[in-house]
Amino acid sequence: MDTSGRLGGMTRSFEKVGVVGLGTMGAGIAEVFARAGLAVVGVEADPDALERGRGHLEASTGRAVAKGRLSEAEQAEILGRVTLTTSLEDLADADLVVEAIPEVMDFKRSLFTDLDRICKPSAVLATNTSSLSVTGIAATTTRPGQVVGMHFFNPAPIMKLVEVIHTVVTEDGLADEIAALARRLGKTPVSVGDRAGFVVNRLLLTYLNHAAVLLENGLATRDGIDAAMRLGVGLPMGPFALLDLIGLDTSYEVMCVLFQESRDRRHAPAPILRELVTAGLLGRKSGGGFYDGDEPASSRAD
Ligand code: 3HC
Repeated sequence: MDTSGRLGGMTRSFEKVGVVGLGTMGAGIAEVFARAGLAVVGVEADPDALERGRGHLEASTGRAVAKGRLSEAEQAEILGRVTLTTSLEDLADADLVVEAIPEVMDFKRSLFTDLDRICKPSAVLATNTSSLSVTGIAATTTRPGQVVGMHFFNPAPIMKLVEVIHTVVTEDGLADEIAALARRLGKTPVSVGDRAGFVVNRLLLTYLNHAAVLLENGLATRDGIDAAMRLGVGLPMGPFALLDLIGLDTSYEVMCVLFQESRDRRHAPAPILRELVTAGLLGRKSGGGFYDGDEPASSRAD
């Protein structure tokens, strides 16, 4: 018996890819695959969410056209590679499915149980989770060796990294195949083990959360902290602008998972994060978070 887990030693070919969840990240991921010439099936839960997903795809590629980075014909070609549907059954013949639904373990487990039933036996199932256990997701399927993390960064069409997360049961060679796929997408893969937050979010969210704690402690204002980190460290965005970009709900969830795993009080979510999330102020996606909409406006959190 072949124990390489690679289709009798053959390397898989990824030509048709499913993306489940077409929010900011999922739509960005679908765009990345379509730009690389793969056929993409984008799935959302209902027609309204599907239309919002279509809107994300059109706006993002439209921005590239407006900037002269893409011709209208190329945009049409990219969008033409994406089929949008509300039926998971349309993923039956996908070679790879990337899940990008909200960071709720029960939702992910239930989705992976369905994907395991629907997708062909050779299909690889990947999660774009920011911090949840890939092993815990894999364990809900009958193919845990074919489940990996494929973690993209926001905005997905721009950020060059993909964290490729393997678990203790990932088939030999699969992480390398996913890394090769990431390179085909124009990304740089980094191989990471299955620990909360992986590399980037473990380090980045700890820093962003600490910025929120400093704000609450009155050390400096929101604008002062953002300016300090942009101008003093050369970061493209200050911590509050970045929290708004990532989404305060996602950021809060990542901190909760980190805190749960580590019990280290440096990972305790800043109360202001929880408060803004409870108020529905999730950042750019809800039109406001630490800042009002896209631009620094009121000093809500000052
Ligand atoms: N979608 C697609 N493209 C976008 C975009 C978006 N949301 N936002 C900006 N872009 C594109 C622009 O069109 C432009 O493309 P071009 O060079 O082809 O013209 C390019 O990005 C640069 O944009 P701008 O000139 O408008 O703005 P900036 O130079 O300020 O760059 C930025 C914007 C790329 C978002 C930059 O500020 C940045 O790198 N910020 C940090 C982002 C970051 O750290 N992301 C990681 C977050 S952690 C994460 O995602 C993990 C998750 O699990 C939580």
